[in-house]
This record gives sequence, C-alpha cells and structure tokens, in this order.
Amino acid sequence: LASTEVDLSPIQEGMAITVTWRGKPVFVRHRTEAEIEQARSVEVDDLRDPQADADRVQEAPWLVVIGICTHLGCIPLGNKPSEPRGDWGGWFCPCHGSHYDTAGRIRKGPAPENLPVPQYQFVDDTTIKIG
Ligand code: FES
Repeated sequence: LASTEVDLSPIQEGMAITVTWRGKPVFVRHRTEAEIEQARSVEVDDLRDPQADADRVQEAPWLVVIGICTHLGCIPLGNKPSEPRGDWGGWFCPCHGSHYDTAGRIRKGPAPENLPVPQYQFVDDTTIKIG
C-alpha cells in the first residue's frame, strides 16, 4: 500500500503504536504535556541533528516517526512507558545504546540522525494518512 490511514483515537496519552507503512515500522505517539514541553525546551543548536520540535510535528501531541534506528537499523524500544525509553524519555535502541528524545531526535549513542518523519497529513481530527 502506498499510503496507510491511522485512527488516533485509541492511542492513549503517553503511549505509542507501531503501524506498518511500505514495509517499515512507523511509531505514532500521543505525547503528554510534559513530553511536549521537554521536546520544545531543547536548545536546537546543541543537537547532533538540529531540528526544532515544531519542524517535526503538525499537531503538538502527535509525533509520527519511522521506527528504525538511524545507526544500523534496529527497532528502538519505548512505545510503552514500561519499556526502556532512554535518558530523554523518547526511545532507546538496545542494539548499541542510542537514546532518542520525545521528538524522536538523537541525543546520545552512535546513531547519526533523528528518526525520520514520514510524509503524512491529517484527514480529520483523529485520523492521519501516512504517505
Ligand atoms: Fe540502534 Fe545501533 S542500531 S544503536
């Protein structure tokens, strides 16, 4: 399928789900207020791959990223709060220890780049179409 529609309504705050788009895992995360605040309060110039939170999200609570570590392609953990989320509360790649923040940006470990944001759009308030 070239595009994938995702119903956001079942995704509880603080959780993320994985959907498959063009054979790749895509994380769709419903961020808490604290996670949004954390993502916005970063000094962008200090980042390895400098990108503002606002340039990575369309609607503040919803973060959509391709769930493939930019180091060597493992799938990071952290969709559920019970999983390791790394030092910045986003995702943690267990293969070689890359830490991603609540905007999916690389903060520590060997990965060179942020988790990529796929092309997507809101179809209505609670549905996105990826691709
Ligand atoms: Fe993720 Fe190496 S593949 S840290």
